[in-house]
Amino acid sequence: MKRNSPTGKGGNGKRGGSSKDMITKGLEAVAETVGRFTAKTFPGTTNAVDMLKADHAQVKQLFDDFEAADDDQAKERLIGTALAELTIHAALEEEIIYPAIRALDDGEEHEEKMDEALEEHHAAKLLIAELASMTSDEERYYAKFKVLAESVRHHIEEEENEVLPKAEESLDLEELGGRIVSRKAELLKGEQPRSSGRSRRSRPRNSQTRSRRGSQAAKRSSHATGSRR
Ligand SMILES: [Fe+2]
Ligand SMILES: [Fe+2]
Repeated sequence: MKRNSPTGKGGNGKRGGSSKDMITKGLEAVAETVGRFTAKTFPGTTNAVDMLKADHAQVKQLFDDFEAADDDQAKERLIGTALAELTIHAALEEEIIYPAIRALDDGEEHEEKMDEALEEHHAAKLLIAELASMTSDEERYYAKFKVLAESVRHHIEEEENEVLPKAEESLDLEELGGRIVSRKAELLKGEQPRSSGRSRRSRPRNSQTRSRRGSQAAKRSSHATGSRR
């Protein structure tokens, strides 16, 4: 279902191209940003956490600009850039930062926090994919982007308060920063993000998980046999 176009652009009811086109344009805009990012924003540093926080500030600014924009063309351009930024940012975190933080192996709570962060990325990617398959005049298109923005804002807050401090405490942020710059350049040239891949189940389940599952199994066994363990 299409919503009414306030601008009446596009003749057939479509005001603009698909969001995929917008993402491509967004990527071009991001490429320009990266030039500024490496050249000016952090002169003489490759600190990974500073880079991620700069990305966060950038997408939050795009969300604010979207909220303030009152013409559809500007909104569409901002959405295209935000989707491109978010796609690249999620890839950098999943390929470089999250595995490094997870490898610190800092207990079950930490492990669950990383799983939660990945799940939030997953939910964001679903919305990004939906937006990318829509045209901008479709009903709930802007609403979908607003929901994405809200969810990303929440994710950023948790990431900055609960995830990135772990990296700052224990990781070589210069080395990771160098990897981020290289990988970001590759992604901007069109390389596809690698799968987030890592499953927590590739490491042994901890005792809490085992005991929870063990107790469920015990209940089932008790029902089946009529005995107590
Ligand atoms: Fe993230
Ligand atoms: Fe992030």
